[in-house]
Parts: sequence; structure tokens; C-alpha cells
Amino acid sequence: MVDNAFNFSGGPSGQWKVIKMETLIGEPLQDVSHINVSPASVSVSQEEIWTLKGVVSNLRYTEKQEKDSLQAIQENLGRSHAICAALIPMRKSEAWWGLAQDERRAIFEKQSQHTQTGLKYLPAIARKLYHCRDIGGPFDFLTWFEFAPSHANAFEELVTRLRSTEEWSYVDREIDIRMIRA
Ligand code: HEM
Repeated sequence: MVDNAFNFSGGPSGQWKVIKMETLIGEPLQDVSHINVSPASVSVSQEEIWTLKGVVSNLRYTEKQEKDSLQAIQENLGRSHAICAALIPMRKSEAWWGLAQDERRAIFEKQSQHTQTGLKYLPAIARKLYHCRDIGGPFDFLTWFEFAPSHANAFEELVTRLRSTEEWSYVDREIDIRMIRA
């Protein structure tokens, strides 16, 4: 088992209490009251209702200057004041995956300014991206964010901005799960 693989499990108890589950597009996920995040090497409790698997992977679109800008200000998960979290599993359409790498990068950044927009919300929002397209499962990505209650409005503004971009026209399944630390 690789140590960059994680399970996101929804069930009746766990580290994060779900306060809202909203399906933006595509098929919903069954409602759950709690989410647990654990390394894939730890076996998942039989009580869990669903489990999504993701791996931390290499960067695809980030250029050197953007990487440096991100690293200069981003913060890690697990900050004690960051008691709010969001798990947003997403899938992109076959039209997206049929594009060449340079076409996808152009939509991601030149047209949609994903990184430039996201950078404005750092370090308030801590984030981690997990890939799942290559390991099967119902989503291509699991995105995870942590922030303080005082930055909840900023996070709302960020997701609204990103969802209005060209990049999001390729998203065909997205579920927004909001939590507080249990
Ligand atoms: C908090 C500010 C954010 C920053 C700084 C940020 C930055 C980035 C960067 C740099 C990448 C590219 C990684 C690569 O090179 O492969 C990326 C990918 C991604 N981000 Fe964000 N992001 C932010 C917020 C969000 C939000 C709120 C969502 C979801 C609603 C999101 C969803 C994604 C997805 C799905 C990908 C993978 C895209 C793909 O590979 O096609 N991001 N993000």
C-alpha cells in the first residue's frame, strides 16, 4: 500500500461533523453525518456508508513561478483554529480528458485563472488535492480545504468565483460537503 493514499469515509461518527451536503451537478452521494480521513493503510470501519479513495500526486499545470508563490504563503492542514472544512469531490467530462495538456493548462489558468484566484485566499484557506481518476472510483479529484469560521465567507466567495469559470464548464459531477471539527 502506498503511503500517499487516503480514504475519505462517510458514516455515523468521525473526526468531522457534516453540516451541509450539496450536489452541484451530477449524481448525489448518500447523506452522512460524519467524515473520517485516514491513510489507506488503516482499515475502514464497517459502519462507514461510503469511502472515496484519493492519492496525493505530482503537479500537472503549476508553473515554477506559481509554485514558488504558493509555497511562500500556503499553510498546512491541521491548524487548531481551522475548525471548518470542505470536501469537494469532483469529476470532469470526457471532453476535458480528450484535450491535450497545453489546451487543459490554457483553460485552467489563462482563461480561468484558477491559481491566480486561489492565491488571493491564501494563507486563510489551507488545501490539499487528491487524484483518483487513475485509481478508478466515481470521481477524478477529491479536494479538501480547512479554514477558520471567520474565513467562511471568503471561502464561499472563492468557490463562487471558480464555479463561474470556463474550467468549471467541464465539471460534470461536484458535491460540496461542509464540516466542522467534531
Ligand atoms: C484555496 C485556494 C486554491 C488554490 C491556491 C488552488 C490552486 C490550485 C493549483 C495550483 C492547482 C493545480 C495543481 C497542478 O498543477 O496539478 C489546482 C488544481 C485543482 N483545484 Fe484548486 N486551488 C484553490 C481552490 C480550489 C477550490 C475551492 C476547488 C474546488 C471547488 C479547487 C479544485 C481544484 C481541482 C479539482 C484541481 C485539479 C484540476 C485538474 O487537474 O484538472 N481548487 N488548484
